Amino acid sequence: MIRTSAAVILLFSVCAFAQTVKKVPAHYTSPANGKQMYTAHCAACHGADGQGDGPAAPAMKTMPTNLTQLAQKNGGKFPDNHVFNAIKGEVGVPAHGSKDMPVWGDVFRAVSGGHEAEMQQRLVNLTEYVRGLQKD
Ligand code: HEC
Repeated sequence: MIRTSAAVILLFSVCAFAQTVKKVPAHYTSPANGKQMYTAHCAACHGADGQGDGPAAPAMKTMPTNLTQLAQKNGGKFPDNHVFNAIKGEVGVPAHGSKDMPVWGDVFRAVSGGHEAEMQQRLVNLTEYVRGLQKD
């Protein structure tokens, strides 16, 4: 019951088809399922395969990052801390200069009904999912 209302209050997702970004209620996704979360919350901007070419990308001031090149751009090592913090939206992460990238930490904290552990689980599983998108 609490879960459902937390999901309904929420917040951030993208109306891809209008090619504008709107804030609409985000539907509930499983914190254990990186793919489901990525598809629901990230693919509209970053593209289904992470190439940065989602349907909402043209509406962005800064193009969404190509998430498949993160390891390659970091000397072959996937920058997991950076990715985790970029998704969470820690202050000081340069990727947040544009403000086009949502601060997912706040969104997931709300989706998780304020449960810090569940929010962390979402960020960890999304980071792992992004790791799996890497191409060399
Ligand atoms: C509304 C569009 C939008 C959505 C939705 C979105 N992003 Fe982003 N994202 C961006 C933009 C734009 C940037 C580049 C920001 C910049 O360069 O200032 C970015 C940057 C990033 C970066 C930083 C890459 C780097 O090299 O620093 C990561 C990681 C990332 N996004 C992951 C995600 C994940 C995971 C999700 C889903 C939870 C997501 N994004 C959802 C627009 C979006």
